[in-house]
Amino acid sequence: MTTSKVRRIFRAYVKNPVAPDRLEVHDPGYLVVAEGKIEKLSHEDPRSQFPSAEFVDLDGKVIMPGFIDTHVHLPQLAIVGTGGDLLTWLNTYTYPEEARFADPEYAARISKQFFDEMIANGTTTAAIYCSVHEEATDIAFSTAQAAGVRAYIGKVMMDRNSPPALQESADDSIAASLRLFEKWDGAEGGRLRYVFTPRFAGSCSMDLMKRAGQLAGERGAFVQSHLSENAGEVEWVRRLFPDSPSYSAVYDSAHLLSERCIMAHCIHLSPDEISLLAARRTNVAFCPYSNRNLHSGTMPYRTLRDAGLNISLGTDIAGGPSLSMLLQINEAMNAVGITFGEALYLATLGGAMTLGISDTVGNFMPGKDADFVVVHGESIEEVYLHGRRVYF
Ligand code: GUN
Ligand code: ZN
Repeated sequence: MTTSKVRRIFRAYVKNPVAPDRLEVHDPGYLVVAEGKIEKLSHEDPRSQFPSAEFVDLDGKVIMPGFIDTHVHLPQLAIVGTGGDLLTWLNTYTYPEEARFADPEYAARISKQFFDEMIANGTTTAAIYCSVHEEATDIAFSTAQAAGVRAYIGKVMMDRNSPPALQESADDSIAASLRLFEKWDGAEGGRLRYVFTPRFAGSCSMDLMKRAGQLAGERGAFVQSHLSENAGEVEWVRRLFPDSPSYSAVYDSAHLLSERCIMAHCIHLSPDEISLLAARRTNVAFCPYSNRNLHSGTMPYRTLRDAGLNISLGTDIAGGPSLSMLLQINEAMNAVGITFGEALYLATLGGAMTLGISDTVGNFMPGKDADFVVVHGESIEEVYLHGRRVYF
């Protein structure tokens, strides 16, 4: 990723999330960007301090940090608009579409479209599920690299209860995941990270989950999965693991829960499960638009937040119907009655906390990467990655 060498001063209405309950607003604000980093954000005009800087007047427009989508499925782009009940939806739409990623040409076409659309929606960092296919996941990484985004990507792992075209043995799943980890984790100066991705307890044996948990733990890698999204799914997992006290305990016994773990949905949890997730410092991806579209229920946001869990937003396409984090912010406000400031935090700094990169992205603290968006009305007009404008 190249960075711009020119120092620029952007004047706009700047929204800077600093805590869930604290949104700094600069009206106008002056954002000074140099060498791809935030140099300064001030209320005062700094032009006399930097006389040779280029001045970019965005009067009437809003600057926000680039969005961080902490739960999204790349191979589901083409089925956006579908919905229904989770387990039926997976079998009817999702698995057949993901099977098409056995074809590298199709995988390359959708990957390109995915990252183009992600950037056009102002998302500069994302935690992404690919399909079970090693080559398709490799292609997703190459495409993210070319696009210049920060991406945490994993090959989905499934060794049971899935269509034959998508099912793999635990050995093959582990071997392919390790090859991808070795090739991509930490690439592009750490902008690309590998994520071990056991899809959910419904489609993974305990053996596979344990091995994934061990490998991720030994390597300091991220893990992502789905937890307690749908009442029928919870009941099914209870039958699959009758000796486990809860769905969360299934993952815990595989050593998957940690501060480097992102569990999506977390809707139908018992108080014991919430305490367990908090004790393990597991991150929660809140996907309100998906939760509505798949009739999953409402995540108990305040209970999880008050238990001390770190929460961030995820679009979860195609469970969710849009890659737009602006729409997701709106949906979060409606679903659980939070302010715009809190929802913006979940879409930016909260996501950076989830991914362990809050010292690098998520708001406009000096020294962070200059990944930001220019919003006019309700549309994303400009996107900057490392201080360089990306055209879309
Ligand atoms: N649970 C297991 N797989 C999926 C998926 O692809 N999407 C959602 N929303 N939930 C899942
Ligand atoms: Zn999902």
